[in-house]
Amino acid sequence: MQIHDTIAGLRAARGKAGRVALVPTMGNLHEGHIALMTQARAHADQVIATIFVNRLQFRPGEDFEKYPRTFEADCERLVAAGVDHLFAPTEAEMYPQPQTYQVEPPPEQANILDGEFRPGHFRGVATVVMKLFQIARPDVALFGKKDYQQLMVIRNMVSEFNLPIEIVGGETVRAADGLALSSRNGYLSAAERAEAPRLYRVLTKVVEAVRAGDRGRAVLEQAAMAELQASGWAPDYVALRKKLDLQLPSAHDSGLVVLAAARLGSTRLIDNLEV
Ligand code: PAF
Repeated sequence: MQIHDTIAGLRAARGKAGRVALVPTMGNLHEGHIALMTQARAHADQVIATIFVNRLQFRPGEDFEKYPRTFEADCERLVAAGVDHLFAPTEAEMYPQPQTYQVEPPPEQANILDGEFRPGHFRGVATVVMKLFQIARPDVALFGKKDYQQLMVIRNMVSEFNLPIEIVGGETVRAADGLALSSRNGYLSAAERAEAPRLYRVLTKVVEAVRAGDRGRAVLEQAAMAELQASGWAPDYVALRKKLDLQLPSAHDSGLVVLAAARLGSTRLIDNLEV
């Protein structure tokens, strides 16, 4: 695997022949990321992974500073996964001057759900992903479905800017007890880690109820939030939405997803399940 820390280096090394897949990450790689790398290989002749902890998508007071940086271990995993190129720029390389031009996703997509609780987050994500697309010029790019709203924003950005890039969503990878793998799971204490799979169980209950024909959306969401609260969580939302645009479903809509974000101690976890 070739490692590049400059844009010029990646561009010079990126071969011109064949299909190129891009898998953007912020590092601290787990099996969920590695599954995306493997999936990328099936879609392309060359796989480029990126590691960049993007300050623009963190708000003041969030975990930008303490976000786990595990570069050596990440490189070993990427080599084992058969990745061809790793682009791991410094902040000065990505943002040599303030990024005054940014990609502003529409409020109805970016200010709901996670965007309501993390204002500006999806602007930061869309801006860095747009930059990575311009730098790597992939034919296909892969993102995990665990960040469901992020995936929707990126799909719509690509569509509205007519970018010639296929966007592929990778299934969420879970621990045996159901907890979705996430770099932030590392923040959990042993007791919190034992409690954390409740988020998946609560979402599973909502999915089962909807599949059984219960369309009392608000009641289901409230019951899920109450169960989390009763077990010491501080939920931001549990929301049943349409998969396509994450807007509120009407009574007869199909193609639904239930999404949740909740804080356990000081750790904010997100998860979702398609119905
Ligand atoms: O999902 C992530 O790790 C990040 O949001 C991404 C897509 C790499 C952009 O910084």
